[in-house]
Amino acid sequence: MADTVRLFIDGVEYHVPRGANLVDAAKMVGNDIPVFCYHPKLDPAGMCRMCLVELGQANVDKATGEFVRDDKGEIAVRWQPKLVTACTMTVADGMFMRTATEVVKTARDDILEFLLTSHPLDCPICDKGGECPLQNLTLRHGPGKSRFIFDEKMRLAKHYPLGELIYLDRERCIQCARCTRFQEELVGDPVLGFHERGRRLQIITTSNPPFDTYFSGNTTDICPVGALTTADFRFGARPWELTEVPTICPHCPVGCNMSASTRQDRDAGGEVIIKRIMPRQNEQVNEIWICDKGRFGHHHSRHPDRLMTPLVRQGGMLVPATFDEAFARIAEYLQAAGGNVGAIAGPMLSNEDLWELRQLVERAGGSTANLGVWPYRMTGADLIAKVGVGVGTNFKDMGKETTIVVIASDLENEAPVWYLRVKGARDRGARLIVLNARPTKLENWAAQGVRYTYGDEITALKGLDLSGAQNVVILVGGDGLDRAHHGALMQAAAHLLVAGGHVGKPNNGLLAVWPGANTQGAFDMGFTSEATEAMFKARPGVLFLADADIVRGDPAGRSLLGTEGAFTVAVEMFLTPTAERADVVLPRQSFAERDGAYTNGERRVQRFYAAQALLANTMPDWRMFAEINRLLGGPRPKLSASSVMAEITQRAPHYAGMNYAALARLEKQFPDVGGVDLYYGGTAYDNRGGLGIQWATQADAGDKVSVPDAKKAARPKHKDDSSLLIVPVTRLYNREAAFLASTPLMAMRIGEPFAVLNPDDAARLGIADGDVLGLS
Ligand code: SF4
Ligand code: SF4
Ligand code: FES
Repeated sequence: MADTVRLFIDGVEYHVPRGANLVDAAKMVGNDIPVFCYHPKLDPAGMCRMCLVELGQANVDKATGEFVRDDKGEIAVRWQPKLVTACTMTVADGMFMRTATEVVKTARDDILEFLLTSHPLDCPICDKGGECPLQNLTLRHGPGKSRFIFDEKMRLAKHYPLGELIYLDRERCIQCARCTRFQEELVGDPVLGFHERGRRLQIITTSNPPFDTYFSGNTTDICPVGALTTADFRFGARPWELTEVPTICPHCPVGCNMSASTRQDRDAGGEVIIKRIMPRQNEQVNEIWICDKGRFGHHHSRHPDRLMTPLVRQGGMLVPATFDEAFARIAEYLQAAGGNVGAIAGPMLSNEDLWELRQLVERAGGSTANLGVWPYRMTGADLIAKVGVGVGTNFKDMGKETTIVVIASDLENEAPVWYLRVKGARDRGARLIVLNARPTKLENWAAQGVRYTYGDEITALKGLDLSGAQNVVILVGGDGLDRAHHGALMQAAAHLLVAGGHVGKPNNGLLAVWPGANTQGAFDMGFTSEATEAMFKARPGVLFLADADIVRGDPAGRSLLGTEGAFTVAVEMFLTPTAERADVVLPRQSFAERDGAYTNGERRVQRFYAAQALLANTMPDWRMFAEINRLLGGPRPKLSASSVMAEITQRAPHYAGMNYAALARLEKQFPDVGGVDLYYGGTAYDNRGGLGIQWATQADAGDKVSVPDAKKAARPKHKDDSSLLIVPVTRLYNREAAFLASTPLMAMRIGEPFAVLNPDDAARLGIADGDVLGLS
């Protein structure tokens, strides 16, 4: 086996990957070397000494590859005189390791006794209790009795806020530096550091605002003790009381796999609710990471302002109604509309919701040209279907043979875990090129940063030399672009990829940074940006706005709702400005209350599962649409989301074979996380809900694809020289999103509204630094 070497552990020969870390190699063959500071996703630091082993090296005859043997015929091994830390070694052919000798056992006992000399006796009240590597390893390896005196333990601050989201219990820290290394190495936000020396060594935050990063929650997962806890969950429940439900983040196109830790809760009147959100391992999608929006942004699902009953307009007021009354009112208007019906669907609708919404619009005689997505400034799903990233593409596998181009996107804000993974590829040697009209954080890691003037995106892209790259992936965002310009940029990128042969294979192709978790799914179900744009010009008589808060999102949205004689149905979780102006409001269920499937930006269709109790007697969106459809003479609603998906697999070509059982399939992933191996990978969950399925592009299928070159789109027009071009930008914590503002922890992180003005424009308008302006 070319890529493996011979490793002997406790006398048994194994074949393990060449160059693997010794702890990982042992793990792969079922030998668990205890670790604290080592983490399979971080560079080794050798800080805690828990992984001590005896290590030797056999002599290998270079000519034959055979081991050199002694007089007795035994393999001759040179043993190192002292124990070594396995985590700082990589395997070499003929390496011998002893992990179960008395000297190793004694060393482990000693290290644990030493660590516990200054650890508080907090286990009964510690959030990590029950899933704590220190607890587990102490039970497995500890000396059983300490020779040290409890009263002499170091006393340090408890419940110290490291920021709004994370608390530090300084006494509990074992100084492993997993948290600091995660922030520094993986994220590139070195906002944590060590302070003071010896037993007083403490973690501090070095940023202002404190712990200023989008990824802070991950440090609580990999912290091997209860030193770091989330403001969200601390003292909220004990791990053994929780039931884990697989789910998918509803916030961005990455589609992070998550686990909802649920419990029947006294504070929720005995109902099952989500107590915390944890990452769920999917090495193709998010590995074991999630951003803080995904982790903390779920509270909207139990917010008291959630709509729990339909509202129907009577005498100018929206008043509560039954579902039957609301459905009847809608059906009445649909029947009278003469097919003048349309729908705009937002990014949190599942594929099943979108499918049934489409069936309803079609049943009412509406054209498929009246199925729009929200937001609608990005397009080019046809190009993704041709040359989207090849099946099997994985940022984790990208290194020096790959060039990654990111244009018109602020990846950190638009798709945070892609930011993390693109940076990781760059750290492994991938060439990163970032093009934008404004500075973004990703540019800090780029081999080449290109600054263009808005409107010159295509020229800037064409100006790149990509020659000689083995693999090329281009990520296209929507920064500063309207739909037409975005379409042209997508085409230019697709053309470039086809011309270079960078399509139809893993780690090559086009990736759109869509605005929502299921924007790709909406395109797959037949919804388009072009339709939304057309409906903004001529709105249909009856318009469904499902998770589409067009009033808050677009200045033109307001006029769309005021149209004389028009009838609007808003389908929302909250009484948004759009819902306030609708004729009927239907209450949406959140991602946490029902089953469904989202399709992420990489075209991976992934299941989420009902995690918590229903709010009142709400029903899934797909079911509401199907019930109205039935009133128009359509079939009886299906019994489950899984039956809706079964129909989709029959009729949507890319989804053939993607029934719920197929989407739930699993395979072994490395590193092992979760389960009893908490000390190894942290408290992220192993995947029990399915890895999803990525649909194949035309290029993947081996079809010959061609994409004509894009014309350089005209620059966005200024009315005249004195006018300004407004460029809305995406912030991860976004005031516009009602669900986010409704989560107190997230609301604290939402910045004040701001506008940035180019200094030249400011000078032309006679505005000086420090002036106070009114902006309308
Ligand atoms: Fe390690 Fe946790 Fe201390 Fe950070 S806070 S150094 S992760 S023990
Ligand atoms: Fe959710 Fe995107 Fe954050 Fe992942 S990166 S947790 S999908 S918002
Ligand atoms: Fe190896 Fe800490 S020194 S795990």
